[in-house]
Amino acid sequence: MAVFSRIAGTGSGLPEKILTNKDLEQFVETTDEWIASRTGIRQRHVVVEGETTCDLAERAAIAAMQAAGVTASELDLIIVGTTTPDLIFPSTACLLQHRIGANGCAAFDVNAACSGFIFALSVADNFIRAGNAKTVLVVGAETLTRMLDWSDRNTCVLFGDGAGAVVLKADTQAGILSTHLHADGGKKELLYNPVGVSVGFKPEEKNAGVRVLMSGNEVFKHAVKALDSVVDEALEANGLSKADLDWLIPHQANLRIIEATARRLEMSMDQVIVTVHKHGNTSAGSVPLALDEAVRSGKVQRGQLLLLEAFGGGFTWGSALIRY
Ligand code: ACO
Repeated sequence: MAVFSRIAGTGSGLPEKILTNKDLEQFVETTDEWIASRTGIRQRHVVVEGETTCDLAERAAIAAMQAAGVTASELDLIIVGTTTPDLIFPSTACLLQHRIGANGCAAFDVNAACSGFIFALSVADNFIRAGNAKTVLVVGAETLTRMLDWSDRNTCVLFGDGAGAVVLKADTQAGILSTHLHADGGKKELLYNPVGVSVGFKPEEKNAGVRVLMSGNEVFKHAVKALDSVVDEALEANGLSKADLDWLIPHQANLRIIEATARRLEMSMDQVIVTVHKHGNTSAGSVPLALDEAVRSGKVQRGQLLLLEAFGGGFTWGSALIRY
């Protein structure tokens, strides 16, 4: 009998500290009006000194496991989508595994920038479909504000910190109907962090040279085009039409990108989960945070059809079509 993965529970982990657009006006040349009209962002949560990606991942993971009624000893696999791990190694998934007491199961990180959660979800789904795992914890967690240049108004106003998680369980009924993943490494210069362990590390510089470099306008155009094609691809692969969709749960980078995808799908904004106004762009945290909010607010109901999508540095982009 075919095996599918179903979402058994969801959870969120957000830092308590909130930075509003008005707060940003105090130290960078920007306005609440510019940020809100160009991006839809009004505020973002930011970590405080000592608070890490794993701290946020842990909160999200515990909430998702409670919602799913799953204990740590039942987990076969933990995957964390992140581009801001606590350490270069061990992976954040390994740190998280020990925190929640799931020692012994497989655990690893996936780095696909803002698409990290969709990529991690796809890997987890494939593990379950192949019969190699029955219960998987999938997390998207980031502290992107740690790598921002707070004097660069082109980027520092866009990002926030946060984590979301799901527990997937094997089931005879789908569940995750399909995932589609894509990448184009040829567009690196449009959105990247110029520093890594073997490139450009400058211990003498503030943040060791780590920062986000982005050609915002170019990224915007590529994102809209890639998301157009990936949502069509997901529907076609399942023989479904736009009208079958109940909810769009998009990556929360920019309200204008989200609206463009909704228009393409002929969906009203009432059918779109939007959190960008209060979270900013939390990269791999964004889609699972939006999903958890949609579930906990009672908007998303069992049996409904959800389309999740994301686009980010790499470039990477992808979708997940889910019968919730
Ligand atoms: N406050 C005030 N003015 C600003 C700010 C700011 N924070 N930032 C830029 N500006 C100015 C620019 O300097 C420019 O001024 P000029 O015309 O005098 O040169 C003007 O505003 C317009 O700038 P644009 O870059 O053309 O503005 P745009 O409408 O494209 O919006 C934005 C910029 C919000 C970055 C948009 O392009 C965007 O959202 N891009 C996509 C981001 C994205 O999706 N990223 C993917 C995921 S990120 C990841 O993977 C890590």
